[in-house]
Amino acid sequence: SDIKSDNIVWHQGSVDRKRREAINRHRGLTIWFTGLSGSGKSTLSVALEERLTGMGCRTYRLDGDNIRTGLNRDLAFSPDDRIENIRRIGEVASLFRDAGIINLTAFISPYRRDREMARALADEHDFVEVFVDAPLELCEQRDPKGLYAKARSGAIPNFTGISAPYEPPEQPEVHLDTGTNSLSVCVDQLVAFLVRNGYLE
Ligand code: PPS
Repeated sequence: SDIKSDNIVWHQGSVDRKRREAINRHRGLTIWFTGLSGSGKSTLSVALEERLTGMGCRTYRLDGDNIRTGLNRDLAFSPDDRIENIRRIGEVASLFRDAGIINLTAFISPYRRDREMARALADEHDFVEVFVDAPLELCEQRDPKGLYAKARSGAIPNFTGISAPYEPPEQPEVHLDTGTNSLSVCVDQLVAFLVRNGYLE
């Protein structure tokens, strides 16, 4: 094992996930958004969280703003740092599932293998991968933070889609075409998926 400390014994509490979920009236669930920078991950996760909260769900959103400035402030964008970024987020998502909360994660998460690692921590139906699919050309046109321009000029190395890879999901639970469809259409699609599959009452 790669655990560095010895003599660690899991301390089981008395309140378990089942009891937390019974109070919440839904299961703990991870909704894992993946896609290029500027594809709409954050916007979608914010809008879906708003809808779910309106339906009485307990939610929590993890994304670059709250994670890369806090928990993962020691990480940048090399391949190894991205792997560690996603590994930690996968573990945090696992804690939120145990807490009985619907957690929405919005990270590029460019490597298929790392997304599969995050998924492997979850029970079969407790991980919903959402491919936020907009063509690179469109993301680059939008360039909300001006980062693609910087990446093209060489000012940002290892930029996803330009000088670093993005591996699209092969079988995501939900595939959203954010290049063509409006935000509200995409959110409707997500809610419909969750209802159809028994996640929400
Ligand atoms: S990753 O690949 O999952 O670890 O990335 P993530 O934590 O989601 O962070 C992506 C946001 O960081 C900004 N940024 C970069 N993205 C890609 N490549 C490089 N080199 C880079 N440097 C900074 C960028 O604004 C991403 O924001 P989003 O919200 O995805 O547009």
